[in-house]
Amino acid sequence: MLAPMQGLTNSALRNLFAVWIKPDTLFTEFMRVAPGDTSRRLSSTDLNDIVPDEQGTPLVVQLIGHSTGALVAAARIAQNAGAAHINLNLGCPFGRMTTGLTGGGILQRPELLQELIPAMRDVIKGSFSIKLRSGYNNNQQIFSLLPLFESSAVDFIVLHPRTVIQEYNGVANHAITANVVKETSLPVIANGDIRTAEDGLAVLEETGACGLMLGRGAIADPLLFKRLREKDTSQPDRIERAAMLYYYLSEILKRYQNLFCGEQQILGKVKSIVATMSDPEFDRHIKSLKKTRTIRRFSELLDELKGDP
Ligand SMILES: Cc1cc2nc3c(=O)[nH]c(=O)nc-3n(C[C@H](O)[C@H](O)[C@H](O)COP(=O)(O)O)c2cc1C
Repeated sequence: MLAPMQGLTNSALRNLFAVWIKPDTLFTEFMRVAPGDTSRRLSSTDLNDIVPDEQGTPLVVQLIGHSTGALVAAARIAQNAGAAHINLNLGCPFGRMTTGLTGGGILQRPELLQELIPAMRDVIKGSFSIKLRSGYNNNQQIFSLLPLFESSAVDFIVLHPRTVIQEYNGVANHAITANVVKETSLPVIANGDIRTAEDGLAVLEETGACGLMLGRGAIADPLLFKRLREKDTSQPDRIERAAMLYYYLSEILKRYQNLFCGEQQILGKVKSIVATMSDPEFDRHIKSLKKTRTIRRFSELLDELKGDP
């Protein structure tokens, strides 16, 4: 699965992955659910993003919010807009999501989930999944939540085994994933720190998880999906890597010119992908792409990369 990543996995990037990489599942970026009494529970931009699948690849719509009433209403609205699969974000560690009761922040008050999870399950007709950290400040908290997820007939969980307060520090502790897989009858998707095919195969082996979700590693190098599928742990050579970079960034540039407005916004969005890349062999190219101020120069640099990898 391609991970949901706010600011990165927009509809254009998902479309490119769907036609080029074909992950088994795609996720939307999180959609914020407005609290309180409102007729605009989900933004019109988010509603426009909802489709059951992208070029045949199932699209999971991810919701983030805090009250049961608002999240249940949003799940209904998303379904009416065409969502076939809905995911609840219980992992996001930033801003109000940590201090407030939303995203990973809800794990501070796990008793709230007793009402929320069954209520969402009741209205969600397609798959209902949960993406979460291993706990708020204790990485064993997940084990106390499993009975609720099972009795609510959640379809699968995606586990990123860091705590919420840990944010992205330290490493994902997949020994926890392995214990969760042992403890629960639910399918578990392992997520966190999978950067190479070797990492992914090791996590599958160590945890017994039924699948993987790839985030930063796949944004930096989409062909990671392909190598994992083929169990190919060799490193791509310089020519292959240059060809991948050229194709990936030129396709994204083309698609972003249709999705976003204004040269600086388009370039900023493409550069947020370049920022995830670290490849010592292409250090010079990556640095120049990051500094570019015009789309024309960005394209010229891509041509240079293709012509002289
Ligand atoms: C820039 C960024 C945006 C993210 N946005 C979301 C999001 O919208 N929803 C979500 O559940 N997780 C989000 N995440 C977390 C990722 O989905 C994933 O769980 C995390 O990055 C660990 O996986 P990785 O090591 O493969 O990147 C985000 C992570 C990053 C770095």
